[in-house]
Amino acid sequence: MPIPDSFLQELAERNPIEEVVAEYVPLTKRSGQNLFGLCPFHSEKTPSFSVSPSKQIYHCFGCGKGGSVINFIMDIENLSFRDAVEFLARRAGMTVPDDGLDPGRPRRDRLYALNREAARFFYSRLVEPGGESAQRYLERRQISPQFARRFGLGYAPDSWDSLTNAMKEKGFTERELAEAGLVKHGKRGGVYDIFRGRLMFPVIDVRGQVVAFSGRLLGDGEPKYLNTPDTPVFSKSHNLFGLNLAKKSKSGYIILVEGNIDVVSLHQAGFDSAVASLGTSLTPEQARLLSRYTHEIVISYDADEAGRKAAQRAIGLLDKLELRVRVLTVRGAKDPDEFIKSRGADAFRALLESSENHIDYRIDTARAKYDLKSDEGKLGFLKEATDIVSTLPNAVEREVYSARVAELCSVSEGAVKSEVERLRRRRSSRERRTLERELRPVRASQPQVKGITYKDPRSAAAEEGVIRLLCLDPSLFAGREGLGEEDFSSEELYHIYSALRRRIDAGESLSPAAMSGELKPEELSLLTGILQKPESAANGARALGDYIGIMRGSRSAPEPSEEGVMELWERMKKEKRG
Ligand code: GTP
Ligand code: MN
Repeated sequence: MPIPDSFLQELAERNPIEEVVAEYVPLTKRSGQNLFGLCPFHSEKTPSFSVSPSKQIYHCFGCGKGGSVINFIMDIENLSFRDAVEFLARRAGMTVPDDGLDPGRPRRDRLYALNREAARFFYSRLVEPGGESAQRYLERRQISPQFARRFGLGYAPDSWDSLTNAMKEKGFTERELAEAGLVKHGKRGGVYDIFRGRLMFPVIDVRGQVVAFSGRLLGDGEPKYLNTPDTPVFSKSHNLFGLNLAKKSKSGYIILVEGNIDVVSLHQAGFDSAVASLGTSLTPEQARLLSRYTHEIVISYDADEAGRKAAQRAIGLLDKLELRVRVLTVRGAKDPDEFIKSRGADAFRALLESSENHIDYRIDTARAKYDLKSDEGKLGFLKEATDIVSTLPNAVEREVYSARVAELCSVSEGAVKSEVERLRRRRSSRERRTLERELRPVRASQPQVKGITYKDPRSAAAEEGVIRLLCLDPSLFAGREGLGEEDFSSEELYHIYSALRRRIDAGESLSPAAMSGELKPEELSLLTGILQKPESAANGARALGDYIGIMRGSRSAPEPSEEGVMELWERMKKEKRG
């Protein structure tokens, strides 16, 4: 069931876009009504990201992203529409209307609330008197108060009931505490705190909710870490420590490490995309979760044999999801944390830049699948291995690995090499064809929104004009026959038009927040972009007639000549090389 417009509107009113955005992006007032800042969605040096407090929308003139406050949270927190609504509701202390589809929801909401309160409790125990031992431990591990706060670290006092008592006072029951995995039932009735005398790392899911804790002893002893068991709101195999922060990184890759301390230490050293699996080796679910946020993983496990084996297993999983994987081995230190402490952040960055791609590993994996003594096995292996080698951008590397493959199945080096080069040529002509397809429509009049291409830019410009007029002055459309799907060359523009039209006819809201419940994020970006272009309603009726004339008359945009495309392709290739 969709969330009602009225709720979305109130949600937007209680989360003013200029306030919400300012929590992520420093904004300044330049001139006029709009606020400007550096776009968080693409790299830029001069601000082209604008926020309009009066229209309650944001729009980037550089990359074309835009929409309501809900779309902003979807983009910056990487959330679905529903989750973004929940996120903003939490921020404003509102409750999203229950859709009645999930009977377990109220109970889970209680556990989320309990975990959040528990995190607050642990944090206050760390910073207030009594937390000195934990503070000293943080100092010893060189974790700054700023980063302790960023991760919400806390301290569980060495007591059997301090958390239990504090949470009971907040109205939570022993049953709920047990369900959240924070207490255990004692032999003589009652409950006792599970986490005692530990540095507490809250596990925060990608929606920003505290779902579990990982507690480390302040000194030596066993067990070093205690983790929350699986609960109705937490499954160890589906979460990663630090992903709530790493998913916002602009680095383009995620660094996968073993320890919680490694995560904090890396973030503090400027590597804001580090995450750790929670004391298990990477699971398929965690791999899939990672693939939602990045195309490239850098594995930097501990330097021991166990770490090496775990890395191999992780590579296997990540490979299946077609993620690019690099392995970064810290030599001369036991883990990334120790490496950074002894050699510094720059040394780690150097490793990061030179970290090997795992071509050896992939060839080995392919080899293990086939029986190289049989002709059939050889052929299968050759097919797979040449394909792997052909992806290497560097010609010398291709030669080296062709030779290795040839040796592995005792065939001539020349044969392998020429097969690799043939595959390479095939791949590049495939890429060229895709490029040609993408370039065919005239570029200049294409929308900036990723994933949307106008088949007929001339008609689309008119279609945009119609939409602009519809927003500016709906009365222009009164009594006029409706435009149909066949009048539009762009599917997205038709969808936007018909949604607006339907809402106007039904007397529903056109507010950005309400629209973001109905339109896809790309469509909303498109719409905000359209609304940024000038249009005057003064001559609206005539403009509307002209637009419709163009839409109905124009169905043949000139195509760029083949030569132009080829030239561009050559240039791009050169630029890539240079
Ligand atoms: P130090 O650098 O030794 O302080 O710890 P670390 O944070 O780097 O963790 P380490 O590399 O020792 O362990 C990796 C992860 O495995 C930890 O973050 C925990 O999640 C998990 N882990 C470690 N020890 C234990 C344990 O005794 N019990 C459980 N359940 N998990 C553990
Ligand atoms: Mn460690």
